[in-house]
Amino acid sequence: MKIKGCVALVTGSNRGIGRAFVEALIARGAKKVYATARDPAKLKNLEAAHPDKIRVLTLDITKPAQIAAAASQAGDVNLLINNAGINRKKGLIAAPVLADARDEMETNYFGTLSVCRAFAPILRHNGGGTIVNVLSIIARVSLPAYGSLCASKAAGLLMTQGIRAELTKQHTKVVAVMPGAVDTDMERDFNGPKEKPSDVANASLQAVEDETEEVYPGGMAQGVSQGLAADPKAVEREFAAYLPR
Ligand SMILES: NC(=O)c1ccc[n+]([C@@H]2O[C@H](COP(=O)([O-])OP(=O)(O)OC[C@H]3O[C@@H](n4cnc5c(N)ncnc54)[C@H](OP(=O)(O)O)[C@@H]3O)[C@@H](O)[C@H]2O)c1
Repeated sequence: MKIKGCVALVTGSNRGIGRAFVEALIARGAKKVYATARDPAKLKNLEAAHPDKIRVLTLDITKPAQIAAAASQAGDVNLLINNAGINRKKGLIAAPVLADARDEMETNYFGTLSVCRAFAPILRHNGGGTIVNVLSIIARVSLPAYGSLCASKAAGLLMTQGIRAELTKQHTKVVAVMPGAVDTDMERDFNGPKEKPSDVANASLQAVEDETEEVYPGGMAQGVSQGLAADPKAVEREFAAYLPR
C-alpha cells in the first residue's frame, strides 16, 4: 500500500516514536491521521500544526471501552500503527513482585492484541490495509535486565505472526518493527548509540510500502538480527551479560 492518501491511526502518539510516526505520515502525504493518546491534551501542539490532517482521539489500549469508542469513530482507517508500549526495566527473578511483568503483558501484548481485534473488521471493510506492530529487537533474544519486557515483546512477535496468517484472506498485511535502542524518554538513561525516532518511523512506513514483514531499523537491530541468523546461541550468551541491577 501507499502512505500517500492513506488513513492511519497511531497509538501512543503524544511523544517518542509515536509522535514521529504521525509527523512522518503527514510528510509522506497521508490523507488523515488519527493521533491517539491516553491524555489527548498532550496532542494539542501536533493537532495545531496540522489541523486539516489530524484527528485527536483518547485511547488507552488497556481500556476496552476506549478501544471500542476509537474504532467506532475511525471507521475509515486502512493503516493501524500499534506503537504504545511500556518498559518497566525489571528482571524476571530479580523483580520483587510480578506486578510490573503483568503490566507489561497487559499493555504490550493484550492491549496491542485488543486494538488489532477491534480494527481487523475495519481494515477488511477498507480493502485490507496494513497493521504495524512496534516490537523490539529484544523480542528475539532476551536482555535479562529487561527480562519481563522481552517476554511481552516476544509474545507480541508471535501474535504478529498469528494475526498475519489469520488476516491473509482479507488481504491485510502485518509488519513487525524491531528496533534497537531509540532516543526517546523510554531509553533516556541509556548512554550507548540510539536511533532517531524519525528514522524508525520512516523505515517502518517504507516497509509498509515495500510489503516487508519484518523491519530492523538501525545498525544495532540489523547487527543483532544478522547475529541471530548466523549463531543464535552466541547472541544469547552475549546478551546474558546484561543482568538486572
Ligand atoms: N525507545 C526504545 O529504545 C525502544 C526500542 C524498541 C522498541 N520500542 C518500542 O517503541 C514503542 C514506543 O516507545 P517510545 O520509545 O516512543 O517510548 P515513550 O517515549 O516512553 O512513549 C511510549 C508511548 O506509549 C504510550 N503508552 C503507554 N502505555 C499506554 C497505554 N496503556 N495506552 C496508550 N498509550 C500508552 C505513552 O503514553 P503516555 O505519555 O500517556 O505515557 C507514550 O505515548 C514502544 O512499544 C516501545 O516498546 C522502543
